[in-house]
Amino acid sequence: MDPFVPNLLAGKTAFIAGGTSGINLGIAKRLAGLGCKVSVAGRNPEKAEGAAREIGGTDIALGLSCDVRIYQSVEEALKKAADTFGKFDIVVSGAAGNFVAPALGMSANGFRTVVDIDLNGTFNVFRACYEHLNRPGASLIAITAGQAVNASMFQAHVCAAKAGINHLCRVLAMEWGPTGVRVNGISPGPIADTEGMARLAPTPEAEANIKARVPLRRYGTKEEIGDAAVFLSSDAARYITGTILDVDGGSQLGDARSRDGSNGLA
Ligand code: HXC
Ligand code: NAP
Repeated sequence: MDPFVPNLLAGKTAFIAGGTSGINLGIAKRLAGLGCKVSVAGRNPEKAEGAAREIGGTDIALGLSCDVRIYQSVEEALKKAADTFGKFDIVVSGAAGNFVAPALGMSANGFRTVVDIDLNGTFNVFRACYEHLNRPGASLIAITAGQAVNASMFQAHVCAAKAGINHLCRVLAMEWGPTGVRVNGISPGPIADTEGMARLAPTPEAEANIKARVPLRRYGTKEEIGDAAVFLSSDAARYITGTILDVDGGSQLGDARSRDGSNGLA
């Protein structure tokens, strides 16, 4: 059964940076399924248009091309979206890049590229969307990751960028709280059928190894991250700002395996 009432978000409008695939597209579909009009933006225009069609077509979705690293490009996409569906009640910043490499195998440009997409991109999206927000009441959500808190080998760029995103959310929550704008993060655990996990766990063995460490013993789903975004955007979360919501099956707690592989349960 759906945990939310039908049309919970009817009359609301959302902008989702990086919403053209994966987890963020899952969020877009979840919001649209509850009646929200959504604009999704990514670098590839065909992919963006395809995503909008998948979400439900022109009545409810708009696909836009934008590079979150370029402030003017973000401004233009936000303006087109606001002109089409009106001011935003929900803005999600989820564009990201990742590759697996040790720090010594990473050029300065490789490190900068990921920080630029994830961290600077989130600043650009949140800074530029402010003038288009329905205030009070707007909900801003950054998509972060456990790497923000737990150092992770071969992920220097992602760890640095996502840690910056978490703290940026806290600062914006303080500065913008007085105008009724809430700023939170969602930290997904390993999510099935995503580009992120295809890069981090490309083999069945690597996937099984990760699942074995998660307290809930499985990958999460895009729908589960969508549900968290709905919650954070709903009235149920009206007094929640500056928080990072872990939606990760308990992954953040650590490696949930005993030394001998047993779990102590009957
Ligand atoms: C070392 C690499 C590399 C690799 C790229 N680079 N791949 N260095 N090992 N495997 C270097 C390049 O050599 C270059 O440096 C620099 O990074 C920029 O590369 P470009 O290809 O020119 O950049 P660009 O076209 O902007 O592409 C950005 C990208 C790409 C991040 C490199 O992979 C991308 O577009 N990714 C978007 C999709 C994605 O990554 N999705 C997963 C998100 S998941 P030089 O010095 O040669 O110029 C995620 C997971 C978080 O965020 C946590 C999960 C649990
Ligand atoms: P994904 O499918 O690769 O999604 C990335 C999105 O960002 C795409 O829409 C991509 O479209 C867009 N994008 C990339 N660079 C961009 C740029 N410079 N400007 C604008 N858009 C850009 O990845 P995913 O695995 O679903 O990850 C989505 C989010 O969840 C990311 O923030 C990631 O860090 C986070 N996360 C993922 C996992 C996981 O298990 N996958 C776990 C924790 C956190 P274009 O390529 O067309 O630009």
